[in-house]
Formats: sequence, C-alpha cells, structure tokens
Amino acid sequence: MARIVVLGIFVADATYRAQRLPRMGETVLGDAFSLGPGGKGSNQAVAAARAGGDVAMLTRLGRDPFADMALDVWAQAGVAFAGTRHDIPTGSAFIFVDSASGDNAIIVAPGVAATIEPSDLDGWADEIAKAAVFVTQLEQPQRAAQRGLEIARNAGVRTILNPAPGADLPDAMLALADIVTPNETEAEALTGIAVTGIDSAERAARRLIERGAGAVIVTLGANGALCHADGTTTHIVALSAGPVVETTGAGDAFNGGLATALSEGLPLDRAVRFANATAALSVTQAGAAASMPPRARIDALLARG
Ligand code: RIB
Ligand code: NA
Repeated sequence: MARIVVLGIFVADATYRAQRLPRMGETVLGDAFSLGPGGKGSNQAVAAARAGGDVAMLTRLGRDPFADMALDVWAQAGVAFAGTRHDIPTGSAFIFVDSASGDNAIIVAPGVAATIEPSDLDGWADEIAKAAVFVTQLEQPQRAAQRGLEIARNAGVRTILNPAPGADLPDAMLALADIVTPNETEAEALTGIAVTGIDSAERAARRLIERGAGAVIVTLGANGALCHADGTTTHIVALSAGPVVETTGAGDAFNGGLATALSEGLPLDRAVRFANATAALSVTQAGAAASMPPRARIDALLARG
C-alpha cells in the first residue's frame, strides 16, 4: 500500500462545552469536560489511517501521560510512530465548544513539538522518501515544516500543506506544496483576500497559484470546498451525515481523508469528495481524533450522496 507520512504535532485536548465563553475575570458554569487526543498533525494521521491509509507520524513526543495517550490512539488507529521521544512535556490545548452550534475556539500549547527542528527532518528523510504522500501543517515551527516539504519534493513525494493555524507564508514555501488546503480564515491570512463565499475563495486560490502553489483546495465548511487545479475551478458541495455535535478536527478529517484518497490513486476531484465525506462524518461526533470515521462509514456516505 502507498504510504502517507504526516509531520505535525500531538497534544492532549482539554475540551469544555458551555453556552458561552467567560469574559475576562468572569466564571461561567460549563456543560461538560473531556480530555482526549488532539493536535492537527496527529488528528490528520488518525483520520487517514481510519479511512484506510497506511500512515506514519513524524513528531517529537515527551515521556509523560499525554505521550502515552498519543501512543494509544495511534496504536488503535494503526498509525506507525516514526518520531522521537524527549524529556520535555507533551503539549495540550484548551478547546471551548459552543454547546448550541458545536463551533470551537482553541488555544494550543505545542510543548515538546515546539522544539522540532529542520535537523529532525533530515533525520527522518528516509521515512519521508518512502512515502507516496507527505502532509504537514503549521503547528510545529514553520522552518521544520518547510524542510519536510523540501525533502519530500526532492524525493518526488506528493506534498500537501495544510496552512493551519493561519499565517502568511513565503512564496518559496508555497512553491514546495503540490496541494495547499486553507479554510476561509487561513486563505485570508495567506492572501489578504476576505473569503466569504465561492467567488472570493476562487480569487484567493488563483493568488496562491500565482505565488507558486501547485493546486489549491479552499475548505468552506457547510459550503463544501473549492478546488483550483490545472487552470480549472471545481466547487464540491458539502455532504451532511447528521446533526453537528462538534466541529473540532473537521479540517483535519478533510486533510486525512484527502491524503488517503490520493494515496489510493484517486484523481483530485474524487479525492476532494472523499475528504468532504470524512469531514462530514467527523462533525457528528464529539472530540478531535476520537471523531475520525472508519472507512465503511465514508464509503456508505459517498454511496448515498
Ligand atoms: O484542528 C483541531 C486541533 O487543533 C485540536 O485537536 C487542537 O489540539 C488544535 O491543535
Ligand atoms: Na468532531
């Protein structure tokens, strides 16, 4: 099976559900709390593996109970850990989930993963070169993500850059990405174009192609995704798999599903449909990594829609 290598971070998500966020200095009563596996890179690796991909995860992990949580969730999903362990605490995230809408706000403290260096990627170069698809995001230092993309590109590995959390990036970095996958706010952070719908998403996508990206997929939440590749724009409508419980990790579900579909050789438009189905199923469940759907449910949703 064609391998997917994900560079990214693991953190433990401390998730609070409440009717609203407290104002500074205020206390509000919440509805629920949970502690579970998160971090965009780890979520994407778990999503890709549960969707049927052969996945290895590259990161720095501590030696503490949060690191044990990472190893457990990867073992259950079938993700191979190919990173390194260090005497530095594993990170965590504070996640506020609005009980009514399922929308979230997040503070992520990457812990040991903030210390990932370009030299780590040089040490992992053989692992990257074995892959068919390389995926990274921006929660570890940007220079480490860029080195990973360079190694993958030089080895002829297809590269996916999920530019999350949002940041402006040098053109040299965009040029290393075969596919860039921002959401609306990340597309705005990259281009300065306020993305409020399909037309503005297309303008942002064209701008990113001008700056060097190979193809661009702008994820649009309930409006699906806009894909701009080879001079052609395709709008892929969202699927619905049931009521929205929590949107945390929906973008990660999308990127993981995309990686798996591409590793199986699907053309980009069909891979985006597969990614949409993966994301649609994830928002019907609580949690981040915990909400990634198994392949059978993705196939069933695609067959229905
Ligand atoms: O994309 C969702 C993830 O972002 C959460 O799991 C949280 O850990 C943050 O990294
Ligand atoms: Na979810």
